[in-house]
Amino acid sequence: MSKIREDFPFIQKHPEVAYFDNAATTLKPKSVIDEVVNYYENLSVNVHRGDFYLSNQTSDLYDDVRKRTAKFMNAQTNEIVFTSGASESLNLIAMSYGLYNLKKDDVILLNEAEHASNILPWYEVCEKTGAKIEFIPLALEGKLDFEAFKNALHSKVKVVSLAHVSNVLGYVNDIKTLAHEVHKYDAIFVVDGAQSIGHLKVDVKDLDVDFFAYSAHKMFGPTGVGVMYGKYELLENLHVNKVGGGSNVRFNSCGSVTYKKPPQKFESGTPNIEGVLGFGKAVDYLSSFGVENVHLKVLPLHKHLLEGLSSMDHIIIYNKDADVGIVSLNVKDIFAQDIAAYLSTKGIAVRAGEHCAKLLNGVLNSERTVRISLYIYNTIEEVDRLLDALREVTLEKVVDIYL
Ligand code: ALA
Repeated sequence: MSKIREDFPFIQKHPEVAYFDNAATTLKPKSVIDEVVNYYENLSVNVHRGDFYLSNQTSDLYDDVRKRTAKFMNAQTNEIVFTSGASESLNLIAMSYGLYNLKKDDVILLNEAEHASNILPWYEVCEKTGAKIEFIPLALEGKLDFEAFKNALHSKVKVVSLAHVSNVLGYVNDIKTLAHEVHKYDAIFVVDGAQSIGHLKVDVKDLDVDFFAYSAHKMFGPTGVGVMYGKYELLENLHVNKVGGGSNVRFNSCGSVTYKKPPQKFESGTPNIEGVLGFGKAVDYLSSFGVENVHLKVLPLHKHLLEGLSSMDHIIIYNKDADVGIVSLNVKDIFAQDIAAYLSTKGIAVRAGEHCAKLLNGVLNSERTVRISLYIYNTIEEVDRLLDALREVTLEKVVDIYL
């Protein structure tokens, strides 16, 4: 792990950058980049439709990624559906499960810390089915409170959809315990794992979730690839949302179609082949040192960052007890985006704004925050650079960057 920075071409090419926007997307190791390039340079063919030997070879490589992904999260191979990312996975679940299984006055239970990708698809379902959304009241600091969660469950709740880890606050929800409660009501438990998959060991069988969605690019993989995991018996009964070539066995001119078995029935069209192959290398990379070690590497950085920030009176921290390396803050009297722009002039990358979790504003009492998100290649020296920049920042200095 000590040489980990050498694996990332971005770090070699931009030694001046301290990259703290890992919750938005992680950097990519060379093995992932090489695999994407290898596809274009040496393979370049379609999968699952060709008779040419390179097509067979590429199809085997593609199928093997599904096997490795299944092993990585303790799923069956036929429970892994490749999508374009967590957003598409959550849309697929909402449109394929929600539209066909929910009816008027059924309830979808969410919480206000959710990302837009885990709220807006459910709004669509409600509009079309007459189902309703109820939000679990959050504790003051934006955490999910277990008692409030239990109280929010009732017989009309048919779907509960929650993030494993909040993308703004970094709190981890105890998914296994929550799943146990959800299933007492025979409801379906959907988990948005976009922020957990690269940080925590995910074992979908142990967690007993019904669906689990994530993106490759937040765990070293390429953009434009993601996974929708679903329990096989659910996938078998799930409607298709995207139809076309590759997903059907036959169809006739009377409109009758026979779809393939999952997961192929959900993967119409030429897939993101190079993305899936690159994702396979990301799975290998993360598995090579164990995802549980990510937390061990990030923890001292996170602690150091919080200690440094706590000594600054002009900093408001919203999530001092986050479970993963995410810190959301504001500098008193300075607009969050201006702080991000100021840090950018110093080569420090953070994200500022609402972070797509627009309902959280009311809970945090702040419309926008500056989010610092750490990952395994960050260093104490980089954290110190960030602390120095935040320690010395003033409104005058921020105004100066625009002059
Ligand atoms: N969902 C990503 C984030 O939280 C893009 O920044």
